[in-house]
Amino acid sequence: MLKQTKIVGLGHYVPETVVTNHDLEKMMDTSDEWIQERTGIKERRWFTYGKETVASMGTEAAKKALDQAGLTPDDVDFIILATLSPDYFFPGSGVLVQEKLGIKEVGALDVRNQCSGFLYALSIGDQFIKTGMYKTVLVIGSEIHSHGLDKTTKGRGVTVIFGDGAGAAVLQATDESDKGILSTHLHSQGKYAKELVVIGPGNMTPVRLDASNAEDPTIMAPIMNGGTVFKHAVTRFQEVIYEALEANSMAKEDISLLIPHQANLRITQFIQKKMELGNDRVYSNIQRYGNTTAASIPIAMSEAYQEGRIKDGDLVCLAAFGSGFTWASALIRW
Ligand code: ACO
Repeated sequence: MLKQTKIVGLGHYVPETVVTNHDLEKMMDTSDEWIQERTGIKERRWFTYGKETVASMGTEAAKKALDQAGLTPDDVDFIILATLSPDYFFPGSGVLVQEKLGIKEVGALDVRNQCSGFLYALSIGDQFIKTGMYKTVLVIGSEIHSHGLDKTTKGRGVTVIFGDGAGAAVLQATDESDKGILSTHLHSQGKYAKELVVIGPGNMTPVRLDASNAEDPTIMAPIMNGGTVFKHAVTRFQEVIYEALEANSMAKEDISLLIPHQANLRITQFIQKKMELGNDRVYSNIQRYGNTTAASIPIAMSEAYQEGRIKDGDLVCLAAFGSGFTWASALIRW
C-alpha cells in the first residue's frame, strides 16, 4: 500500500534588514500609499551581501524545521530546493544546503518554478515518500530578489513587490491513512512565459556573455505585465483550489486554513471574497515580507503553525500561481 506524507517540521528564516515603503520612496518615485493600496505590502526584508545567500537562508530555515521535527541532518534522505535566484547559475543551491547542513551524500534537486516552486517541490517530495523510496525529505523554498531588482523609478512596478527569505518543511511517511498530503495538482501554460520573466542569463540573447548584457543590466531584472498576471492569477488560484477539493470530494467549507502564495494582498482578497472565506480561514503575511516567490508558502505555513493557526486535524489548502505561467495546489490533513 502507498504511504501517506506528513509535514513533521516547519521553519523559516528572513534577513534582519527591514526595508519599508518609505525607504523605497528615497530610491524611486513611489509612495507608501501607492504600494499599500495596490499590493498590501508595508515592508519587506533585503539580504546582506556577504552574509546571506539562498543556500545559507535555506539552511537556517531547514535547521529550524528539523529541530521542530526532532530530527537531525543525518535523518534526511533527499533535498529539494525551490528557487528562481540560486547562489550560482549552476550548480543549484540544493547541493550547497547538503554541504552546509552536513547531510550525508544524498540526492539534491533544484526546482525552477518561481511562485509555484514550493508546491512543485512538495509534490515531488510527496511522490518519493508515497512510493517508499525515501523516508525523510527536506523541502525548501529560498529567494533573494533584492540583489536583482532595478531600484530606479524604471523598475518600480516590480521592485516594490518582491522580498527575500526562506522557508522549509520536513516530510516523512506516516501510517495514518487519513492524515498528511491528500493530493497535489500542478499546471503550466508556457504561452505566457514572457508575461513575468527574467531574460538573462539565458539563450535568448546572442551570446550569454554578450557585452550588451553588461550595458543593459535590466536584462537581468524581472519584467512583469502586472495586469495580465493579475487577471490570470485570480482565475487560476480558484480553479486549482476547487480542483484539489473536488479530487478529495470536499467543499470550500471544509477548508480550515487557506495559505496562498503571497503574491499580492489584492489577489488574495479577491479570491477570499469570491470563495466567501472569512479572515480566520485565510493566512496573509505579505504585509511584512512582500512577495518571496518560492519561499512565500513555507514562510507563511511556518508562521501560521507558530501562531497556532494550524492544529491537528485541520484541513490546510496551499495554492500558488506565478511566472511560467505555472500554478499548483495541495490539500493537507494535519
Ligand atoms: N509607485 C508609484 N507608481 C507606480 C508604481 C510604483 N511602485 N508602479 C507603477 N506605477 C504607476 C505606473 O507607472 C502607472 O502610471 P501611469 O498611469 O502614469 O502610466 C500607474 O502607476 C498605474 O500602473 P499599473 O501598472 O496600471 O498599476 P496597477 O494598478 O495595474 O498595479 C500591479 C500594478 C500592483 C503590479 C498590479 O498590476 C498587480 O497587482 N498585478 C499582479 C501582479 C503581481 O501581483 N505580481 C506578483 C508577482 S507574480 C505572482 O506572484 C503571481
